[in-house]
Amino acid sequence: ENPVVEKLELAEPHLAGWLSSLGLGVEYIRSQGNTLFYRDDQGAEIPVLDLVGGYGSAILGHNNPDIVAYAKSLLDEGTPIHAQFSRHPYANDLAWKINGIIQREFGTDEHYAAVFANSGAEAVEVAVKHAELDRVMKVAELTERIEAHLDEARAAVRSGARIATDGAVDLLGPDLAPGDAGDIDRLLDAVRAANSERLSARPVFLAPEGSFHGKLVGSVQLTHNVGYRSPFSALAAQCRFVPLDQPDALEKTVAQERRTVLDLTVEDGVVRLTERELPVICAFILEPIQGEAGIRVLDRAAVRRVQEVLATIDCPIIVDEVQSGMGRSGAFFASSHLGLQGDYYTLAKSLGGGVAKAALTLIRGSRYRTDFELVHSSTYAKDSFSTLIAGRTVDLLEADDGRAYRLAAERGDRLLAMLGRLREEFGDIVKDVRGRGLMIGLDFHDQSESTSEIIRDQAQAGLLGYLFAGYLLRVHAIRIFPTASATNTLRIEPSVYLTDDEIARADKGLRDLIEVLRKQDGETLLHA
Ligand code: F0G
Repeated sequence: ENPVVEKLELAEPHLAGWLSSLGLGVEYIRSQGNTLFYRDDQGAEIPVLDLVGGYGSAILGHNNPDIVAYAKSLLDEGTPIHAQFSRHPYANDLAWKINGIIQREFGTDEHYAAVFANSGAEAVEVAVKHAELDRVMKVAELTERIEAHLDEARAAVRSGARIATDGAVDLLGPDLAPGDAGDIDRLLDAVRAANSERLSARPVFLAPEGSFHGKLVGSVQLTHNVGYRSPFSALAAQCRFVPLDQPDALEKTVAQERRTVLDLTVEDGVVRLTERELPVICAFILEPIQGEAGIRVLDRAAVRRVQEVLATIDCPIIVDEVQSGMGRSGAFFASSHLGLQGDYYTLAKSLGGGVAKAALTLIRGSRYRTDFELVHSSTYAKDSFSTLIAGRTVDLLEADDGRAYRLAAERGDRLLAMLGRLREEFGDIVKDVRGRGLMIGLDFHDQSESTSEIIRDQAQAGLLGYLFAGYLLRVHAIRIFPTASATNTLRIEPSVYLTDDEIARADKGLRDLIEVLRKQDGETLLHA
C-alpha cells in the first residue's frame, strides 16, 4: 500500500494558496465549448460557464471538435513537427490566408511578411526587434551618407569653398572652439565627435497609457502596469506612455524625444553645418481594444491623430491584436474598425485554436528587412503542428463567408445589451459597460469605502474582481476574472458559440452578485 503523501505545492506555490483562499483553487478536469468541468467532493462533474474563454484563446470554444479532430489526424499521419531549415509550405499558406484578410479588411494590396513565434509576448518582441533592426539600419545608412558629405565638404574647401561659420558654434557647442569653425579639419573632427555622442542615443518606444503587451524582458517595458514593469526596467529599452485623450500629448512627447545628428552641405561654393533627424523613436505600439487596461476600445479620432503625428517622423505602428484579433471584435482585426492599417500586426492566443501554442508577427512589405530572418528564430516556432492548426482555425473563422465574425458581433451585442440593462438598473454598483464583439468589460464602482470590512480590504488591495470571481464560481458555477491592471473590471471573452441560455445564466449570476454587493454582504461574497 502506498501511503497517501500530502504533496507540497511547488508549482507557483504562492499563487495556488491565494486562489484557494478566494475559492478559486479548483482543478478542472475537462473542457468543451464554453464549459469547464471540475469534480465535487462526491465525485460528480460540475459544469462551469467559462466567460474568460481561456483569456481570449478560445474564440472557437475549448476543445473545438473540428480542431481536435484535425490535431489528432496530424499526429496520426506523423506530421513532421520539427523540421527546421527546410521548406514549410504550410507556413506560407497561413501567411497568404492572413494577407488575404488584411487586403479585404484594410483595402490594401501591400503584402506582409510573416515571422512565427510561440506566445503573444514573443510576437510583440519579434515586432520590437524588427523595428529596432530597421532603425539601426536606417541610422547606419544615415551615418554613411553623412560621412560621404563630410568628405565632399573637405574636398570642396580644398578647392576654394568657403565655410559659413554662423550658427556652427551654437550647433557644436563645446565640441568646437570659436576660432575653429573656419578650419575644415577641426570642423570635421568636431562634427564627428558630436555625432558619435548623438548616435549613441537609446531607442525609445511609445504606447498609450494602460497598454499591455506581455511580460517578457522586452515586452514588459511596453506594459504600463508599474508592478509588472518597473522591477525590470534596467533590462530593456524604455517606453513612454502617452495619454491619448489629451490631443497634444503625443506631439509633445515626440518633440521631447527628437534627436538630430550633424551634417555638412556644400552649395554654391559654401559649406554649411545642418541638422538631420536621427530616428530614435523605434515604434508606437497599441492595442485597438485595450485588454488589461479594462477593455477600452480606442477612440477613432485619437487613433487618426496618432497616425498623422507618426507619419511626420516615419515611425512605424505595431498593432497588437494578440487579444483583440482572430475575429473577437466582429472582424478578424479589431483595428479594421478603426481604419488603422498597421506596419506590424501581432497574433497569438486564439491563433492556435485553443489547442496549440502559436503566434505570428506580420511585417509590412515596404518596411521588411530580410536580414531579420537570420536573427530571430525559436525551436518550436513555425512547427507543422501549431502552424497547420492555426491555418485550420483561420479557415473555420472564414467559413460561410465569415459566419464566426457575424456571430462574434451578434453574440457580443446580446451580451452588451444584457450588461447595459444591469448598468441601467444598478448604476450605484455598475459603473460602466464597454467593449466590442466578444471583448467586453463590466466595470464596478470602487468599494474601498465599503461598510463591509471584507469588501473594503479586497478593494483596497486591488483584488475586488477576484473576490467577485470566487463568489460567482462557488455559487453560480461561472468562471470570470478581472482584467490584469483594472481589477474592478470583469472581462468577458467567451467563444462565438455562446448560447442565449448561457447569456441568461451570466445575467442571473451577475444580478445576484450585484444584490449581495448592495447589501454590502462581504461574508457571503467570501464564504458562501
Ligand atoms: N499582447 C496583448 C494585447 C495581450 O493581451 C497579451 C496577454 C500579450 C500581448 C501577451 O501574450 O500571454 O501569449 O505572452 N494578455 C494576457 C491576458 C496576459 O490576461 O489576457 P502571451
